[in-house]
Amino acid sequence: MSQLSDDEITNPEPENTFEQVVSRRFGRRAMLGGTLATATAFLASGPAGALTSTGFQGKGKSGGRPRNPKAALIDFDAIPLNFGDRPAISPDYNYSIVIPWGTPLDSSGPAFSWPVTSAAAQEAQVGIGHDGMWFFPDGGSNDAGWLCINHEFGRTSHVLGKPLPESLEDVRIMQAAHGNSVVKIGHNGDGTWDVIDDAANRRITVNTPVQFSGPAAGSPLLENAAGNGPAGTLNNCANGYTPWGTYLTCEENFNGYFGSTGGWTASEEQARYGFSDEGFGYAWHEFDPRFDLAAGDYANEGNRFGWIVEYDPEAPDQPATKRTALGRVKHEGCALTIGRGGRAVAYMGDDQRFDYIYKFVSEKNHVSMLARGQSPLDHGVLYVARFDDDGTGQWLELSMDVPALAARFESQAELLIYTRIAADIVGATPMDRPEWTTVAPDGTVYCTLTNNSRRTEGNAANPLAPNPNGHIIRWTDADNHVGTTFEWDIFIFADDTVGTGYDFGSADGLWADPYGRLFIQTDGAQPEGANDQMVVADPETGDIRRIFAGVERCEITGIAVTPDQRTMFINVQHPGNGDPELTRFPDYDASLPPRDCTVVLTRKDGGVIGS
Ligand code: FEO
Ligand code: CA
Ligand code: CA
Repeated sequence: MSQLSDDEITNPEPENTFEQVVSRRFGRRAMLGGTLATATAFLASGPAGALTSTGFQGKGKSGGRPRNPKAALIDFDAIPLNFGDRPAISPDYNYSIVIPWGTPLDSSGPAFSWPVTSAAAQEAQVGIGHDGMWFFPDGGSNDAGWLCINHEFGRTSHVLGKPLPESLEDVRIMQAAHGNSVVKIGHNGDGTWDVIDDAANRRITVNTPVQFSGPAAGSPLLENAAGNGPAGTLNNCANGYTPWGTYLTCEENFNGYFGSTGGWTASEEQARYGFSDEGFGYAWHEFDPRFDLAAGDYANEGNRFGWIVEYDPEAPDQPATKRTALGRVKHEGCALTIGRGGRAVAYMGDDQRFDYIYKFVSEKNHVSMLARGQSPLDHGVLYVARFDDDGTGQWLELSMDVPALAARFESQAELLIYTRIAADIVGATPMDRPEWTTVAPDGTVYCTLTNNSRRTEGNAANPLAPNPNGHIIRWTDADNHVGTTFEWDIFIFADDTVGTGYDFGSADGLWADPYGRLFIQTDGAQPEGANDQMVVADPETGDIRRIFAGVERCEITGIAVTPDQRTMFINVQHPGNGDPELTRFPDYDASLPPRDCTVVLTRKDGGVIGS
C-alpha cells in the first residue's frame, strides 16, 4: 500500500541518537563517504563478491557480465519502461490471468457483479488488493496446488462504487473484500490456470475466528470488556512460508481501519501505532463498534492486529494463529530461513518511515520443536537491528532480560504488544520504510527500503535525505543467521538506476530464488512516470533486466512459483487505482472496473522463470 499511509510518522525520535552521534562526528558528507568506504570493505570479504557499493554495472542485456554465457542466470530480452493501460512482458515470456477480484471460490459460487452489493457474495469470492502469496503444490505437482493470497486493501469507491459505506452491510462488504483467500488452482495445459473446486478453498476475513499463541496469548491487553473472541486478519501485505508447509500472512496498516466516533484521545501506545480519529477514511467505525476507538467495550481491539499470522492451507478446520513471539508492528513480510542448529529464523520489516527491521530466532531446532508439539514460532528471541557506521551491526534483544525493557514493561506479553516502543528504547536504527526481506542462497539477507521523502538527516544505512526513490540494503549474520552481529552494505540505490535501461524506483516486493536471482517489484513513482514493474537481478554479475511491467497506477507485488520454477505467479494490485477511466485491466470490458489479479508468467521455451 503506498497511497493511503505515506504521510505517517509515529516514531517519536525518528532521527535518533545514533544518527545524531554519527552526524555530529562526521557530518552528512562524511557519512556518505563513510558508507562507500564501508561498502568497499564489506565487498572485499562479503559473500556477494564483485559489485560496486551501488550494486550494479550492467545496462540491460548488453551491459550484463555473466561469468560465462552458458552459466548466465539471466538470458531474456528486457523490455523498456512501460506506459498506459496495458501491461508489457519480455518477448521471451507469456502471461495469463488467474483469480481476479470477485472470482468464485467454487464453480457453484456467485459470479462477480459490480458494484458489490452483497457481503455474502464477496465472502464467497476472491478478495481485492492481491499482495503477498505462496503456492503450495498438491503432492509436489507443478500443475495443481493451493494458492494462499493476501488481500491487502481496496478503495471503498472501487468496491462499493461510492466513496463511503452507508450501512453495516456496506462495511461487511468491505471487510469481506479484505483478508486472505485459499484457492486451489490447476494448469489447463496451455499456460492458463483456473480454480479447482476443493474443500480447502476458503476466505479468511476480519470476521473469521482466529487464535493467539506465544508469550502474549491470554494477556488482558488482548481482551475486551465486550467479550468478543479474536477474529480476523487485516491489511495483509507481504508474506512468508515455512518448511513445515504453512503460510504466514503479515498485518501491516491495520491502524487505518480504526477511527473514533468522538471523545477518544490516543494513549502513548496507540499514538506509536498511528491510530487516529479518521484512520485512512474507511469509516468502518461508524457502523461496526469493533473499529470505534471511542467504544470502551472494544478498547483493546487494536492490539489484536499487527501480528504474523500462520495457517495451514490444507487444514481449513484449524484456525489461523497469531504468533505473538514475532512481535507487533506494521508487518510487511516475514522471510523465514533455517539457521545454525536447525533454528527457524525470520526476518521482518516494519513499513513506516523511520521504523525498524526485526529478526526472530527459534529456541531450538525447528524439527525437534515440531516433534514435541511446539511451534518454532512460539518460543525464541526477538531482535531489532542497529546498523553501525563501520559496516557492522547488532541485533538488539527485545526481552525482559534487558534492564531498560524490564523497567518499562510488566511482562514479555506487554513488551511484544508494544514492540515498537521496546525497539525505540534499545536504540534501533530508523530506516526508510522497510518492506520485503528475502534470504539468498548464499545466506545474504536483502531488504527493500522503499522511500522516505521526510528524511532530513541521513544515517549510514539510510544516507539519502530525502530519499524519494529508495534503496536496497543487505547483510550477513554471524553464526549462520543465529548470531547477534552482522555485516551490511547497500546493494543498490534506485537513483543510480536512472538511465541504465533497468531504471526503477520504490522497490517493495523482493524474492531471491534458489539460484540466486533477485526478483525486485516496485510500488511508487517510477522513472519518467512509467508504470510499476518487476526486474530480475543477478547480484554476482550486476546484470539486471526488466521482465514485466504493469498498467497505469498499479503496483506489482507478490511472488510465488511452482516447484520446478517454470511457472511464476505475481500480482497486479489496484490497477488504475480502481479508476475505470484509467484502465479496465485485465478484462477490458466496459461493464467491469479494473480488477486486482494474479498474473501467471511462463517462458516461451519452458525454461526457469528469470532465465
Ligand atoms: Fe503493504 Fe508496505 O506495503
Ligand atoms: Ca509499498
Ligand atoms: Ca508492499
